[in-house]
Amino acid sequence: MNPETNAPYQRVLIASANPLFGQGLEKMIQRQWKNPQLEIRRVASNEAVLSEMQNWLPDLIILDYDDKAISRAEFLQEFVAGDQPMQVMLVSLKSSGAVVVYDRRTLTPAQAEDWLNLPKFSQTTSEYPPKQRRSSMKHFVIVGVLIAAFTALIYFLLSNIPLLPIAASAQAQPIDQLFNLHFFMISLLFSLIVVFLGYSLVVFRHKPGEEEDGAYIKGNNPLEIIWTVIPLGIVIYFAYLGSVSLAETRRADPQALEIKVVAGQWFWRFEYPDYGIVSNTMVMPVNKQALLKLTSLDVIHSFWVPEFRVKQDTLPGENLVRELRLTPTELGEFKVRCAEMCGTSHAYMESPVRVVTQAEFDQWVQDQLAAIGTDPVARGEVWARNNGCLSCHSVDGSPNVGPTWKGLYGLTHELTDGSVVTVDDEYLLTAIVNPNAQVPKGFAPGVMPQIYKDTIPEQQILEIIEYIKSLK
Ligand code: CUA
Repeated sequence: MNPETNAPYQRVLIASANPLFGQGLEKMIQRQWKNPQLEIRRVASNEAVLSEMQNWLPDLIILDYDDKAISRAEFLQEFVAGDQPMQVMLVSLKSSGAVVVYDRRTLTPAQAEDWLNLPKFSQTTSEYPPKQRRSSMKHFVIVGVLIAAFTALIYFLLSNIPLLPIAASAQAQPIDQLFNLHFFMISLLFSLIVVFLGYSLVVFRHKPGEEEDGAYIKGNNPLEIIWTVIPLGIVIYFAYLGSVSLAETRRADPQALEIKVVAGQWFWRFEYPDYGIVSNTMVMPVNKQALLKLTSLDVIHSFWVPEFRVKQDTLPGENLVRELRLTPTELGEFKVRCAEMCGTSHAYMESPVRVVTQAEFDQWVQDQLAAIGTDPVARGEVWARNNGCLSCHSVDGSPNVGPTWKGLYGLTHELTDGSVVTVDDEYLLTAIVNPNAQVPKGFAPGVMPQIYKDTIPEQQILEIIEYIKSLK
């Protein structure tokens, strides 16, 4: 003790593996004693405690009585052995009031005995660890069985809720397999967390009269390695499965039927270059791979038939044609919808998709060709409709975004630059392939799309002109 200061001790050693215990005590002592000469050291291991007792010679040791890392017997031995004045304060946070102070010089054998076997703590000594190991084994077995049962139950429920529409393409198979595997992982992870949580809440809940805190546990290396390595392995395995599935959905059939898919605000158009057919319905022969070449006239759209599973964005720009392979396996009517927010009518951007037998497909091709016929005027009308011309140009003289086609041929137009032209074949061709060159007065330049030079074959443009000429 030092009578010249207002504090009774100068060197205080705090022995506890719990950092909160040590920090809290140290702050409290600093605040209360206000002694500039006071030195406080904190140690967390048995060896460090013994070494500080021998070398640093603290005059007060505050020992966390609940800390199992520090051996009370060894500590007591060292405490009794020295001849420097030293006091020890045994502090237990588990039971209130369990603070006992012993002085080295006055410690009696009975007190030493008490110190080792304080009755309050007797249950935490000799017989406790084996009992705990036995019962924790029991807990793990119960929890393991519960997790297996829960996983099976949730997986069963998930697999039996019709979350997905029927799988109607060959490309849907690998995707659905992955989906099922994910369902299983979701079931397992959910059970793992919820069962441990629920079991702990029920079995380890606070019982009336129980006032002790839970054990202080500082890390567990094997556990941390296990819960890092296993999920890492699973993630790598799923990445492997994902790439295998992706390759599977892209497997090419050299005999594939080519269909050019053109998306625009807000319609789908399907062109069959092998047959010279343009259609607003996508017709596909069953069990035959179709190679879709997708493009957009304006903004980004996305081609998606949920029953076929695969999905592909359509991008504006000649060099940005995207490919998608589809092998329909089920006959029937489906719907392609746009899966990319593309403006006002995005939600209604749908077109029918019909999967038919090869014979029905051949018949459809014949019907389409017959409907188009050989009359250039009739063909021109089909091209004009398929390419959206009639959305802006009326054929009955009514006003619209662009000039009406009725009686257009042969008219004299005054242009925005003041010159005058006669509407003839040459003018109409320019107006379609290079619409900004000669804009008639009263119509804004830039409204007519600049794309038709590339998107409509020249023969079809000439036939559209024949159609315009026919509208007297
Ligand atoms: Cu096109 Cu959304």
